[in-house]
Amino acid sequence: MKILRTVQELRAWSRANRKEGKTIGLVPTMGALHAGHASLIKAARERCDAVAVTIFVNPTQFGPNEDFAKYPRTFDADCALAERLGADVVFAPAVDELYPDGAMTFVDVEGLSGRLDGASRPGHFRGVATVVTKLFVAAEADLAFFGQKDAAQVAVLRRMTADLRLATEIVVCPIVREADGLALSSRNVYLSAQQRHQALALSRAIGTVESLVGHGQHNVATLIEAAEAVFGAEPDIRVDYITCVDWATLEPVETAAPGTLFAVAAWVGETRLIDNTILS
Ligand code: PAJ
Repeated sequence: MKILRTVQELRAWSRANRKEGKTIGLVPTMGALHAGHASLIKAARERCDAVAVTIFVNPTQFGPNEDFAKYPRTFDADCALAERLGADVVFAPAVDELYPDGAMTFVDVEGLSGRLDGASRPGHFRGVATVVTKLFVAAEADLAFFGQKDAAQVAVLRRMTADLRLATEIVVCPIVREADGLALSSRNVYLSAQQRHQALALSRAIGTVESLVGHGQHNVATLIEAAEAVFGAEPDIRVDYITCVDWATLEPVETAAPGTLFAVAAWVGETRLIDNTILS
């Protein structure tokens, strides 16, 4: 497996593969890879002939008081995992490769970028949309793989690829969870043993809502109340949002319908965690 550092190298790799008639899969990540990321690499391996995993902790999607500096960086282990899963290349550029000196160009998906995580993390989705555009333009992939874990991110990126008529198709993969339900996240390493336990409130709230919907409850106010009650039993967790929205527009809905996104975000100590379900 090769490690590529420049946009030019990634583009040359992609074009050489395409010349041989191969399909190209892209898996964008910020590293600190876990089984959630692994599921995306496996999906890419199954569906594409050539697979690039990107590892880049993107500074523009972190707010000034967020965890950019302390975000976990485990590059050697990440490369070993990517190789084991059959990735052909890892693209790991320096910051000034993707943001050359004086860079002034950003991609902003208006409206959507201010909802859910975008409401509590101003500028976050602008950073995500910008870096993913750069990666798409560099990799010229057929398919790019993202996790439903970051469901609002998926909505922003789907809108962006449609608006810009980008040639890369977005594939969404299911949320990978620990045995006890906690959604895998690179940020779970920040949790103490006690916080790790408290964090289960997120998946418990999601499970409660899924079960209510399964029993025919579609009233969103009732679903939100039930989720609030789960968090109410964990006084050390601070809820950021509990919401039920149309997955495409991220606008709130009053009645849960198939395809509706029910999402939660909460602070466990200094760590902000998210979880969600697409209602059936
Ligand atoms: P990162 O948080 O590293 O996540 C990379 C990809 O892994 C995302 O598509 C995310 O949804 C997916 N992922 C994370 N946890 C998962 C889980 N438990 N199950 C399934 N998939 C999971 O998301 C980003 O990086 C960045 O915003 C990025 C898109 C790379 C742009 O910088």
